Amino acid sequence: QKHITLSTLNRIRADGRKFACLTAYDACFAGLLNDAGVEVILVGDSLGMVLQGHDNTLPVTMADMVYHVQCVKRGNSTAFLMADMPFMSYSSETETLENAAALMRAGAEMVKLEGGAWLASSTQLLAERGIPVCVHMGLTPQSINRIGGYLVQGRDPIQAENMVNEALQLQEAGASILLLECVPAALARRITETLDIPVIGIGAGADTTGQVLVLHDLLGISPIRPKFVKNFLAESDSGIAGAIKAYTDAVKGGTFPAAEHSFD
Ligand code: KIV
Ligand code: NA
Repeated sequence: QKHITLSTLNRIRADGRKFACLTAYDACFAGLLNDAGVEVILVGDSLGMVLQGHDNTLPVTMADMVYHVQCVKRGNSTAFLMADMPFMSYSSETETLENAAALMRAGAEMVKLEGGAWLASSTQLLAERGIPVCVHMGLTPQSINRIGGYLVQGRDPIQAENMVNEALQLQEAGASILLLECVPAALARRITETLDIPVIGIGAGADTTGQVLVLHDLLGISPIRPKFVKNFLAESDSGIAGAIKAYTDAVKGGTFPAAEHSFD
């Protein structure tokens, strides 16, 4: 199979099909994700929780991210490789450019930043220099202390309206993908229909172009089990590889997420 690019993801969107994204942090799992047909691998800063045992993603460093991107890069042959910019690694223009460059040199093909319209200038800076940007909106775990908990975002009509407008501004600034975490399914559908770029959802209902989960959540081995998570290993009769394949097939077939994994 050929290596997935942004063009592939845009074509999937244009065709009205869906793509699967999953986190990985090492070479072995990257290979398993390739075998299952996962289109996008995210080296997420969720590694701070599932690998490092922290309570949140704030302690994750650029050195941690570069190391895990390098590990995943060696095991990956087909998936488009996206990497998180960790907490406070994109607080100034210089840091944003240097840290995004470090992730790209490590093997990332796209970087992900958490925020809203305030990221428009960073998005433009990166995009103009050839670095594709995914903006992560809705529940943004790096802002957990400001948000005050892992809460659904955009339920308030004014907040929802703002989210749509901010998403449009980020697309205008050059974002190539938008990721929505923990937003009501109807709002995620509206943003997906409004934008011309692919939208990836997690806890955002079934109508986004792509879906993402944390690998350890899908395998049922994380300490925290949010509502939007499904343990695919519990139903697998072919172990871990089967669980990853079941997730991928369910996303592409539109059977995951179900209503029970979504928010109103
Ligand atoms: O770090 C991560 O794994 C993420 C996904 C949950 C979207 O950002
Ligand atoms: Na993340």
